[in-house]
Amino acid sequence: MLRQLGGTMASQNIESVLHEQRTFQPSAEFAAAARIGAAELAALRREAAGDHAGFWARLAREELVWKTPFTVTLDDSNAPNYSWFADGRLNVSFNCLDVHLAERGEKTAIVFEGEPGDVRRLSYRELHAEVCRLANALKAQGVGCGDRVAIYLPLVPEAVIAMHACNRIGAIHSVVFGGFSAPALKDRIEDTGAKVLITADGGWRGGQAVELKVAADKALADGCPSIERVIVLKRTGRPVLMQPGRDLWWHEAIEGHAAHCEPAWIEAEHPLFLLYTSGSTGKPKGIQHSSGGYLLGAKVTTRWVFDLHEADVFWCTADVGWVTGHSYVTYGPLALGATVLLYEGSPTFPDGGRFWKLCQDHRVSVFYTAPTAIRALMKLGEEVPGRYDLSRLRLLGSVGEPINPEAWMWYHRVIGGGRCPIVDTWWQTETGAILMSPLPGATATKPGSCTVPLPGIEADVVDESGASVSRADTGGYLVVRKPWPSMLRTLWGDNERYRAAYWSRFNGRFYVAGDSAHRDGDGYFWILGRVDDVLNVSGHRLGTMEIESALVSHPRVAEAAVVGKPHEIKGESVFAYVVCRGARPTGDTRQLVAELRDWVGQQLGAIAKPEHIRFADNLPKTRSGKIMRRLLRSIARGEDIIQDVSTLENPAILDQLRGIETPAEAEEEPGLEAGLASPAAAG
Ligand code: PRX
Repeated sequence: MLRQLGGTMASQNIESVLHEQRTFQPSAEFAAAARIGAAELAALRREAAGDHAGFWARLAREELVWKTPFTVTLDDSNAPNYSWFADGRLNVSFNCLDVHLAERGEKTAIVFEGEPGDVRRLSYRELHAEVCRLANALKAQGVGCGDRVAIYLPLVPEAVIAMHACNRIGAIHSVVFGGFSAPALKDRIEDTGAKVLITADGGWRGGQAVELKVAADKALADGCPSIERVIVLKRTGRPVLMQPGRDLWWHEAIEGHAAHCEPAWIEAEHPLFLLYTSGSTGKPKGIQHSSGGYLLGAKVTTRWVFDLHEADVFWCTADVGWVTGHSYVTYGPLALGATVLLYEGSPTFPDGGRFWKLCQDHRVSVFYTAPTAIRALMKLGEEVPGRYDLSRLRLLGSVGEPINPEAWMWYHRVIGGGRCPIVDTWWQTETGAILMSPLPGATATKPGSCTVPLPGIEADVVDESGASVSRADTGGYLVVRKPWPSMLRTLWGDNERYRAAYWSRFNGRFYVAGDSAHRDGDGYFWILGRVDDVLNVSGHRLGTMEIESALVSHPRVAEAAVVGKPHEIKGESVFAYVVCRGARPTGDTRQLVAELRDWVGQQLGAIAKPEHIRFADNLPKTRSGKIMRRLLRSIARGEDIIQDVSTLENPAILDQLRGIETPAEAEEEPGLEAGLASPAAAG
């Protein structure tokens, strides 16, 4: 069943989007200078429609430098395990760094600002040298082609350097977001079987040092037998324990290594990275991306959607721990030879003007962030951004969740001064690159819609039977009909789950994104939400089962059910129903609530902490024992119950679930910070 479409939520969404009538045409001025104008876009669409694989093959030849050219474009003989450009060989860091040395070696690749205000610039030549040094150091530590390297760093240039150093030698990186806790890090390292962990003494966030090495040590003490070496970057300078024989400082590891490293010429299908994301079971999925197809997707979408020109300064606020930071910090913009801004810290440190000050000070021209950040900063009032010169901005982007029209309009008017187009980009960890978005010089936008698929992407909305749904007010499953180069290849170590999760719903006919959507009369797509048990909190995916397992691992908890509740800033917040061992806690439960929230934070990371916890004697279940989540969702939202409760084993439980609310303690982090999903601001 389509979850969102079944309830009132869906009809409200459809109602609200049907009432959204505003459209914004690209200005003549923007269109005239854009890399892709309406005519070019139409030509690209025609070409892709005429020869899908041929279209991508042409781009792959033009955009990427191949050591060995490919002769096979798309191999679908093993569908749904598609491969692209399989007999071609290339190197990703070569395509992002070496290719620029002759023409823009001195151009700034990365401008970095740390939270304390320290600024560092790395030219393409310097970045290339640092990548080579670390690549050589990794080789010296025994890392070879195909080995996995886990990266657990703050958002500093070394995170980007580490990713490129891995791919330079054919090692597969797996970045773990620095906001994840030790157990989450341990699970991810163990699943990848990484040989080396690259971490730091810490990073700065909200004026505090985030103790990454302490968390890493804990993860390694509890497991991770595959890790042979830990390379530790000195960032905060605070004392850390170094385990002799295992731990090595970054600056010592690279000492004496050459600033040149011959790239490994790997096959296009060689895995570039693994990145874990939540699904509807308790175990996160290790999304496996390719090298050639992925890089092509990241590069062309950066060009098309962000319209980058030579003089632009591009700031994507996402941490490299999320896919957005992979495709639109580390890979796409560098492949294009752009200048990117990297900012380590909190958007509200020392105050809520930090993002706008960064835009002003570093002359940011293209800015890409998440709706949750926009909503949180919007709450602070217009006078905050009003203090800064934002006149350099020319294009704004949004990603991670549907952007509500109110936030869209504020972003447009207050941040964009009414002159910047907004690109609302729909995509996923799995898709590798943006699949649906306006092109800023060619597509009319409507607040709240990601508009239409990019050239070469055949997205559709289908009903339960797989038939295309074209009625404007009817939603369905969002699917992609044809394979595309930057799609995930499999789930690391679990191809069966890959097939089941993305392809089984319609017998392998299309890629099933897990979102519901509908199209309006102009063919514009409007994303309604997830159809599975996945929440979208501040643009980040959280599996309800992961949070439930974390709760149940607490000694006081017997059973738990987690649902999402709409939240003004975060989009959705975590609402947990908890059944305790022994008697149901009554009276002042604040201490237990705080303890359970902290517990979840320790197991998974701060973003997963439930906002609300409600205690009950038991959970509503069907006679076959399934938890009735839809019912719990309605209760959490305070909606009237319209579901059929006749199958409920214990109907009396309803009053209890509705009647006894134990409000969670006030947010520990200020609401704004929580909305920005510390320490990252976009998915
Ligand atoms: O539900 C959609 C939502 O985020 C999900 C993907 O999450 P993740 O893999 O963490 O990647 C986030 C960044 C690419 C999607 O299934 N989503 C992402 N972008 C949008 C969106 N929902 C609506 N509009 C968007 N622009």
